Amino acid sequence: MIGTGTTAVVTGGSSGIGAATAALLARRGCDVVVVGRDAAALSAVAARTGARVCAADLAEPDAAGRVLAEAGAVNLLVCNAGIGWAGPVAGMAPSDVERLVQVNLLGAIRLVRGVLPGMLARGRGHLVLVSSIAGNMHVAGEAVYSATKAGLAAFAASVRGEVAGCGVGVSVVVPGVVDTPFFDRRGVPYERRTPRPVPPERVARALVRAVERNRAEVFVPRWLRFPARLRGAAPVLTDALQRRFG
Ligand SMILES: NC(=O)c1ccc[n+]([C@@H]2O[C@H](COP(=O)([O-])OP(=O)(O)OC[C@H]3O[C@@H](n4cnc5c(N)ncnc54)[C@H](OP(=O)(O)O)[C@@H]3O)[C@@H](O)[C@H]2O)c1
Repeated sequence: MIGTGTTAVVTGGSSGIGAATAALLARRGCDVVVVGRDAAALSAVAARTGARVCAADLAEPDAAGRVLAEAGAVNLLVCNAGIGWAGPVAGMAPSDVERLVQVNLLGAIRLVRGVLPGMLARGRGHLVLVSSIAGNMHVAGEAVYSATKAGLAAFAASVRGEVAGCGVGVSVVVPGVVDTPFFDRRGVPYERRTPRPVPPERVARALVRAVERNRAEVFVPRWLRFPARLRGAAPVLTDALQRRFG
C-alpha cells in the first residue's frame, strides 16, 4: 500500500502531524497530495517533499469533492486536519461549535464517502482517521473537541465493519500530546506535566506502520492505550482517578 503507485491524500498536510506524514509518505515513494488552507505553508511542504498541493477549507461542504477531483484515484486517505478549542462548553460561540464539527468530523466523513466507491471498485485502499486521546478520556474544557474525536473513532469502527473483506483497511491513530502549533492555534497552551509532547514525526511513523499492518487503532505513545482501555471498562472509576490525579 505504501510506495510507488499509491496516491495519498493527507489533510492538514501544511503543518504538524500532517506535514510529517506527507514527508514520510513521499520518501517512501507515494504520490502525495497535501490539503490545507494555508497556501504558503502547503507550498513549503511541497518544496521539501515533492507533494502536490490542494488548497481547500474542509469546513466548506463542496471542498471534499474538489480535493478528490484534483487528486485522482486515491489509494490512501489520511484525514488528519483538525482544530482545537478549550474552555467551558457553555461559553462557546455557536460558530465555534459548528466549525469544530465541520472541520474535525464532517470534513473527514465527506472525504471518506468520496473515496470509498473507488477503493471498493479497485478492491484496494486504506483510510486513516487521526483522532485524539481526548476522544477516549474525559477532558474537562474540551467537550466539543472530544466529541468530534470520539465521533471519528465510532465512524471508523462502523466503516471498518462495512468494508471488511473488500480490500480496504481502516485505521484510527490516537495521539496523546504532540509538539505542533495545535495549542497555539487554539489559543490555550498545553500546561500539564503528563503526557509529555511527542514529535510529530513519531506520530507519522506510527501512522504508516498502522497502514502497513492494517491496525484498527494505534496510540502514540503506546502506553496511552492502558488508560483508554481502563476507561472503556470502568468509566466512573477512571473519571474519578483523572479528577484526583489528572
Ligand atoms: N497536537 C496535539 O497534541 C494533538 C493531539 C491529539 C490529536 N491531534 C490531532 O492531530 C491532527 C493534526 O493536528 P496537529 O497537531 O498537527 O496541529 P496543526 O499543526 O495545527 O495542524 C492542523 C492542520 O489542520 C489543518 N486545518 C485546520 N483547519 C482546516 C480547514 N478548515 N480546512 C483544511 N485544513 C484545515 C491545518 O491547515 P491550514 O492551517 O493550512 O488550514 C493544519 O495543517 C488534528 O486533527 C488534531 O486534532 C493533535
